[in-house]
Amino acid sequence: MPRASLEVKDPRWKVFVYGKAGTGKTTMASKIAGRKYLLSLDKSFERIPYFHTEHRDEVWQLESPVMSDLADFVRYFDEIADQFDVLIVDNVTSLQKLWFVDQAKESKNTLDNKISHYGEFTNYFIRFMYKLFSYDLNVFITAHEEPRKTILTSGQEASQIAPELRDAAANWLMGMCDIVGRMTVKPGTGERGVILQGTDDVFAKNRLDSRKGCKVEDLFNFADSNV
Ligand SMILES: Nc1ncnc2c1ncn2[C@@H]1O[C@H](COP(=O)(O)OP(=O)(O)OP(=O)(O)O)[C@@H](O)[C@H]1O
Ligand SMILES: [Mg+2]
Repeated sequence: MPRASLEVKDPRWKVFVYGKAGTGKTTMASKIAGRKYLLSLDKSFERIPYFHTEHRDEVWQLESPVMSDLADFVRYFDEIADQFDVLIVDNVTSLQKLWFVDQAKESKNTLDNKISHYGEFTNYFIRFMYKLFSYDLNVFITAHEEPRKTILTSGQEASQIAPELRDAAANWLMGMCDIVGRMTVKPGTGERGVILQGTDDVFAKNRLDSRKGCKVEDLFNFADSNV
């Protein structure tokens, strides 16, 4: 068995932020420090000059069919990954939607999904994200949000705001990430923040430091100096 390397690298982070459309997720991604590569799964970078104009060469825009396009992306990115600090995956809700649309195209009326597609999506999604996590890079992931059913410790069923992604895929991804935060905009002031502590109403977690929430501009200023 090969001996483990003694070289200690900076730990890489995996941060997952979800929220309503237009809260500012892609804008936030453009402000992360370091060299960034954007895997745009929803084209929403077109509104953001940093990606659209200034760094267009560092953006991969997803095309249909999704699976062959992402296989091309991986082959391309394998060669250049070491030039970057952060890979941005924006947004996985859109990936899920486009994947199901692609699969339905094979049905008689081009609109139906088969039951087997649901399990296939989860397997595909996990395999693809696992590949992205294998790069020696920080990874920032976004999604839209939706209410989902959850069971409280009391055994009661309740509704919780969580990423808009099929449960098995979302549970796996949320388990893999160091931070899962819900981005919100305060009505009135327009102030943007990220909830980092989970409650019965909102899914969130933070295993990088002790913050329960922060302003968007502070999200990546982790308190723990070894991160
Ligand atoms: N921190 C901010 N302060 C002020 N305005 C902001 C901020 N972040 C984003 N905005 C504004 O909100 C709009 C939407 O932002 P952005 O496209 O980043 O949202 P998004 O969450 O990625 O939306 P979508 O889910 O639709 O892609 C932008 O046009 C931008 O001008
Ligand atoms: Mg966006």
